[in-house]
Amino acid sequence: TRRSFLAGAALAGGTAFAASSTWRVAAAEPQELRIPELIDARSQGRSISLRAQAGRTSFFPGKESRTLGYNGSYLGPTLRVHRGDDVEIAVTNALDEETSVHWHGLLIPGELDGGPHQMIRPGATWRPVLPIRQPAATLWYHSHVHGRTAEQVYAGLAGLLLVTDDDEKALALPSEYGVDDLPLVLQDRQFESGRLILPEGMMTLMHGRRGDTLLVNGTANPVARVPRRLVRLRLVNGSNARFYDLAFADDRAFHWIASEGGLLERPVELRSLSLAPGERAEILVDFADGRAIALEAGPDTNAPMVMGMLARAADLIGRGREPVLRFEPQGGEAPGVKVPERLVAHERLDPSRAVRRRRFAMTMGMGGMMGGGMGMHGINGRPYDMERIDEEVRLGDVEIWEVSGEMMAHPFHIHGVHFEVLSRSGAAPGPRDQGLRDTVVAQEPVELLVRFTQPAVAAPFMYHCHILEHEDNGMMGQFVVR
Ligand code: C2O
Ligand code: CU
Ligand code: CU
Repeated sequence: TRRSFLAGAALAGGTAFAASSTWRVAAAEPQELRIPELIDARSQGRSISLRAQAGRTSFFPGKESRTLGYNGSYLGPTLRVHRGDDVEIAVTNALDEETSVHWHGLLIPGELDGGPHQMIRPGATWRPVLPIRQPAATLWYHSHVHGRTAEQVYAGLAGLLLVTDDDEKALALPSEYGVDDLPLVLQDRQFESGRLILPEGMMTLMHGRRGDTLLVNGTANPVARVPRRLVRLRLVNGSNARFYDLAFADDRAFHWIASEGGLLERPVELRSLSLAPGERAEILVDFADGRAIALEAGPDTNAPMVMGMLARAADLIGRGREPVLRFEPQGGEAPGVKVPERLVAHERLDPSRAVRRRRFAMTMGMGGMMGGGMGMHGINGRPYDMERIDEEVRLGDVEIWEVSGEMMAHPFHIHGVHFEVLSRSGAAPGPRDQGLRDTVVAQEPVELLVRFTQPAVAAPFMYHCHILEHEDNGMMGQFVVR
C-alpha cells in the first residue's frame, strides 16, 4: 500500500482539544499574502533547477504541517520564460516516491510534457529543454504521477509558469511582480487543530477533496497590500476539486484580460468570474479609491446529483460567501496605466477546417459504487490505462471535440493544445467561453475546436477531468499526434 504524507500529520495534529481553541484565535489573525519567489529564465542562463522535496509549513502560527514543495516546503517558485527561448528545467526528485512535473498549458512535444509517462524516480533528475513558442500566458506546473496526482498536489506540488513576449510588453500592463502583478494560487484545504490533513473516503472519490479553509499561495486568511492604482491579478485555481465563484465584496467591476491560452482580443468587463480546477484568468482591478476590499467566493455547489438531490447539500448549509483575499490599498493615488482598449489580435480558426469529430463523456462509474463495488471513473465508460492509446490524431489537423460530463460539472483539460469553445449546450458560447483555452467546464455538451500543433509520438498527451481525484481514479485518456 502507498504511504500517505499527511496521514501521520493528521494523527499528530489530533492531540488535545485545548490546542484547537488556540489555533482558532490564531486562524483569525490576518497574514500577509505570501508571494512565491520569481525565477526569470533569462537571468539564469535559460536554465532553471527545481527540486521536489518534503518539508514543514506553518499555515497557522506555531502549527507545523508536513507538506511538499519545489525548492521550498509548499508550492514552488514562479518561473518566467520568454517566447522564442529554449529553456532547460532540471527537475530533481528528492522525495521518497515517484513524481512527474507537467507544464500545464505549455505547447511542447509529448515527451517533454511531464505527464504520467515522464516519471522521475526518487533521487533522479529529469532535464527537459522546453521550446517556448507561444504567446504570453499564465500557465502552471504540477505533479502528474498517475494515481498520486491528487495527493501530491494537495500536499503542495504546484507552481506558476509565466510566458512573456513582446506583444505583452508593448501593452504596458501592470507587470511589477508581487507589487501590481500578483500571482494568486487559490486552494482549499482541510485543517485539524491548525494542521493540514488529507480527507479520505468515498466522498472524496465522488466529489474530489475539498477543505473548509481557503489558502492563497499557501497563506491562510491572507491580506495583500497593493498600490492605489490598476493591479493585475493572475488567478489560478490550484484546488483539487473546488469551483470558485469570485466577486468583490462591493460588487465592483473589473476587467478580464487573459484566458488560459493568453491575452484576449479585448478586455471584458465583469463583476463575477467562475474558475474551475485547472483554469486561470488574468484580471485588472482598480484600487485607486483606496478602500480596503475583499475578493470573495460563493459556496461551491458542484456535487453529483444522486436521486435528484445534491449529494453535498449538508455541508453547504450555512456556508455563504467567504473572503478569499483581502486587499489593502497603500499610499497615495498613483497615476497608473489605464485598461487598454485592445489587447492582442487572434487568428481565428475556421470550423469548416475540422476533419473529424470525436466525443468524450466523463463518466463517474456510480453504478459500481452503489452496488457496493469500487466505482472507477472513466471517459466514455473506460478508466484510464497507461498501456492503451485511446485516440490517434494527425499533426496539423483541426478537429471538433464534443465533451460532456455525467452527474456534475467536470473541468476537461487537454494537454499540448489550445482550443476555442464553439458551442455550449447547442447554443452560442457565453462571454466567459471566449479566448484560447486548455481547460473547459463541461456537463451539458460543449463543442471545442482543437488544433493539434505539437507531436506526441514518443509519449502520448493526456486529456482528463481536472478534479484530481476523478483523474487519479480513471477519468483520463491519452492520445498520440503524428
Ligand atoms: Cu493540469 Cu493533465 O493537468
Ligand atoms: Cu496539462
Ligand atoms: Cu470530474
